[in-house]
Amino acid sequence: MKNFIRVALLATFASSVAMAACSSGGTGGTSTAGTSGTGGSGGGTMNAASVARGKYLVDNLLACGECHTPVDANGKPDKTKYLAGSRSYDFKTSMGDIVSVYAENLTSDKVEGVGDWSDDLVKGAITKGIDDVQVPLWPIMPYPEYALMSSQDVQAIVDYLRTVAPSKNVVPPDTYPNPGSPAATVNGSKIPHTTLPKTDPDYASAERGRYLASIACVNCHTPELAPGLPDFTKPFAGGRTYRSRSDVGFSTSTNLTPDATGLAGWSVADIAESIKTNTEKGTKRPLCDTMPGGPGRMGDLTDGDLTDLGTYLHTIPAIKSAVYQCGMDASDAGADGG
Ligand code: HEC
Ligand code: HEC
Repeated sequence: MKNFIRVALLATFASSVAMAACSSGGTGGTSTAGTSGTGGSGGGTMNAASVARGKYLVDNLLACGECHTPVDANGKPDKTKYLAGSRSYDFKTSMGDIVSVYAENLTSDKVEGVGDWSDDLVKGAITKGIDDVQVPLWPIMPYPEYALMSSQDVQAIVDYLRTVAPSKNVVPPDTYPNPGSPAATVNGSKIPHTTLPKTDPDYASAERGRYLASIACVNCHTPELAPGLPDFTKPFAGGRTYRSRSDVGFSTSTNLTPDATGLAGWSVADIAESIKTNTEKGTKRPLCDTMPGGPGRMGDLTDGDLTDLGTYLHTIPAIKSAVYQCGMDASDAGADGG
């Protein structure tokens, strides 16, 4: 995607924005994981609860496999290459050069995967966008948002990745080696708090939802001032044109704030149901491919987490937006190299 070239250029000039106040980050570890780990044997000393939490984050809340697991001929995740690296994301520079970026092999293989990386190196890639040899990553990898994760949750992801069976799948090198410098991470103070008073019985639930939404939803559901530059005066107001793989169409995200142009008419249960089934309220239209809802992805979030997310989105400041429709963005589609 051409966007990321511009992100990179912007990032070169923007000083890395330090995460001012990720105040709610610590709540992440308190949610209960919905599934128990089935991802392999793992080292005996590893904390089973942390591994289970990591699996839940990787498979469900953050859906890392959307990018890091290739799909088979039917467009379904190829389970034989679970987290073993993807096909390409191709985009054109303003000069017309096609750049291909590949989401790497995250399995425990010591050569092709991250089996040989220290915990700190894996964490640096996930939250700072810097790899094991200090090379900056293209921000299609959502590290600017993952930077808002609690340290417990980042550790849980690393613990889980250690248990993922090694795969020798070879991921080709990017055609442009790197973006020059990592993109700025998201400033946590830009993520709105619930408008509920602290005394409200739903306040704690809404603030837990804020944490989940800041690492898992704000990336796709916030409009951009320029490609790659999120407009944090309109968090969750939709309008970002996005796709997670070269083989799915571009979709424009919808407004999740409680405005008439957003989810004003939706109850907390409606929001949960939409994510569970990946369908639109009322019409039951399947949501565009880009929204990672439904079974095997965000659809398997715990009822508690879905309620927290719905309660939060229900009580953030309403923002008016255009009404977005999912579908192809012609200019981006034209710029796509394949
Ligand atoms: C929207 C797509 C996308 C999602 C979602 C995503 N990644 Fe990535 N990731 C990438 C791409 C693309 C790269 C390679 C970037 C580059 O080469 O500059 C990458 C690189 C990485 C790397 C560096 C690997 C290496 O060998 O250099 C790690 C580690 C990583 N991702 C972990 C994760 C984890 C863990 C998650 C989920 C919590 C995740 N990613 C979610 C696209 C994604
Ligand atoms: C990879 C990008 C992406 C991520 C991540 C993402 N969404 Fe979405 N979401 C979309 C797109 C695109 C649509 C519009 C789909 C459509 O209209 O078919 C959408 C639609 C929705 C809808 C349906 C709204 C409507 O008006 O029909 C809800 C609810 C929703 N998202 C909630 C969430 C929540 C909550 C999260 C985080 C837990 C999240 N999304 C994360 C891309 C994303």
